[in-house]
Amino acid sequence: MQQPRVVLTGASGGIGLAICRALGGRGAHVWVCGRNEGRLDDARAAVEQAGGSATSLLMDLEQPESLRAAVGQLSQEKPIHWLVHNAGIVETAPVHSLKASGEQARRLMQVNFHAVRELTQELLPHMTETDHPSIAMVASSAALAGHPYIAAYSASKHALLGWSRCAAQDLKPKGIAVNVVCPHFVDTPMTDAGADFVATQTGRTREEIKAEYAAINPSGTLITPDEVARAVMGLLEGSASGHVLELMGADSQRSVDQGFELRTPG
Ligand SMILES: NC(=O)c1ccc[n+]([C@@H]2O[C@H](COP(=O)([O-])OP(=O)(O)OC[C@H]3O[C@@H](n4cnc5c(N)ncnc54)[C@H](OP(=O)(O)O)[C@@H]3O)[C@@H](O)[C@H]2O)c1
Repeated sequence: MQQPRVVLTGASGGIGLAICRALGGRGAHVWVCGRNEGRLDDARAAVEQAGGSATSLLMDLEQPESLRAAVGQLSQEKPIHWLVHNAGIVETAPVHSLKASGEQARRLMQVNFHAVRELTQELLPHMTETDHPSIAMVASSAALAGHPYIAAYSASKHALLGWSRCAAQDLKPKGIAVNVVCPHFVDTPMTDAGADFVATQTGRTREEIKAEYAAINPSGTLITPDEVARAVMGLLEGSASGHVLELMGADSQRSVDQGFELRTPG
């Protein structure tokens, strides 16, 4: 494939910008999706500086009408080779806290799961009969196990993982790959925000909390966004589907699901 055409959600975040650079380095054209024009300008610049081209696409995954409008803007865009679901939100509250409300849980399920399902289903017709169509999901180690303070987040990522495993099977006859990465703690603004919250509760500093997160990671270090981007690119460019990769840090990975051969690379 000469120039992959890619829709990337969460393009403006820590991992998203790293994926922008990686896709740009591959010469891709990327629809960079998010809610803020200024941050999307940065995402576009990241793609372009790495050698690709990009179009900003405003898309608020919490708002059905915004999702519909964005899909409408993509309606003339065929083919789309790759779809990367990276946008996500997290909450930090124990289940017995008032902060862990039903409304909050529904928001998490909407952004981290339902929007992924809806956007995938809308864009599938753009991906059939194209060269090497592939979908990559950025889930989380929270899709594989339970941790304190993130019950609704973990539930949404479990839902995303389960749905993706089934989608890989359903889309096999169409030759569309579906693969998932499950990173442990990554050094991004999301992790900074979580550390800041814990810092306010405990009187410790952001850096102390982040050092604890790093110590929890199997590698003993925070994962870099570029490491996640490398794993995503490997799955997009590979020839298999149904892979679930747990990212441990320091470029070490564990294959949770081995996947199956879908096709020879085009
Ligand atoms: N950081 C970690 O330790 C970690 C670990 C495992 C998995 N992950 C997953 O990795 C993905 C990226 O996370 P990150 O760490 O890079 O977080 P981040 O820096 O906070 O970026 C989050 C991204 O999601 C977008 N987003 C949030 N709410 C949205 C909405 N309603 N509609 C559209 N876009 C929305 C944001 O875009 P705008 O705000 O610009 O609209 C931003 O681009 C997430 O799915 C996260 O769950 C993160």
